[in-house]
Amino acid sequence: MERLQKVIANSGYTSRRKAEELIAKGQVKVNGQVVRELGVKVSSSDEIMIGFDVLKKENKVYYLLNKPRGIISSASDDKKRKTVVDLIDTDYRIYPVGRLDYDTTGALILTNDGELTNLLTHPKNNIDKLYIAKVKGLIGKKEVNLLANGVVIDGKKTSKSKVKIRRYDKKTNTSIVELIIHEGRNHQVKKMFEAIGYEVIKLKREQISFLNVKDLKSGEYRILNPKEVKKLYFEATK
Ligand code: URA
Repeated sequence: MERLQKVIANSGYTSRRKAEELIAKGQVKVNGQVVRELGVKVSSSDEIMIGFDVLKKENKVYYLLNKPRGIISSASDDKKRKTVVDLIDTDYRIYPVGRLDYDTTGALILTNDGELTNLLTHPKNNIDKLYIAKVKGLIGKKEVNLLANGVVIDGKKTSKSKVKIRRYDKKTNTSIVELIIHEGRNHQVKKMFEAIGYEVIKLKREQISFLNVKDLKSGEYRILNPKEVKKLYFEATK
C-alpha cells in the first residue's frame, strides 16, 4: 500500500505536489469515491481516476545520457530552450534524476520512476558521483586536502570527498582534478573550488555509482537493463 499522491506521481502523470493539489480539489477518485485527504493509502488493485482519466500503471523506463553542453537539465523550460528530455526518443513522461548545469557534460539518468529518483538523490544514501574538473591554476596537495576534508559552501560544510589530481598542464596553467562526492548540492563542484580560490572552466560527470558514460558519445544515450536498475536500487538502499 502506498500513499495516493505518491502513486499518482510515480505513474508519471504529474508531480507529487500537483497530485496533492488535485486531491485537495476533489478531482481524484479511488474506486469511484472522491478522496480529498492526503494520507489515504491505495494498493495496485485500486482504480484511480483523475477527472475522467483512469490512471495507467505505467511501465518504468530508465536511460543513461551523456549530456552535452548547452542543454538544460529539466523536463521543460519556460524559455523554450532544448532540454535533456528532448534528446531522448520516448513516449514516456521522463525527467532527469538531479541536475547538471547548462555547461556541465556527462552522466545523467532519466526515468519516470519516482521512487528510484528519490533514493538516488537523497544525500543520506551515499551515491558516489565522479566528476572531472578542469581548473584554472595549479592544484597541489594542500588544495586536495582542503577539498577532501570539506569546505564551507552556502554556509554549510561539504562532507568528506575523494580528490585526486589527474594532471597539470604548464602551457595552459590548468589542472585536471577528479572528485568523488555523494552530495548533490547546487553547483557543488564549482562552489567547492570557488571556496578555495579556484575557478572551474570545464566540468564533466564521468560516473554515477557504477554507471559511466565512456561508451557514449556526447548527446548519446542508452536504456539501462533490469540488472543495472536492480543494482541502482541496491546501491541506494544498502
Ligand atoms: N557541480 C557543479 O558545480 N555543477 C554541476 O553541474 C554538477 C556538480
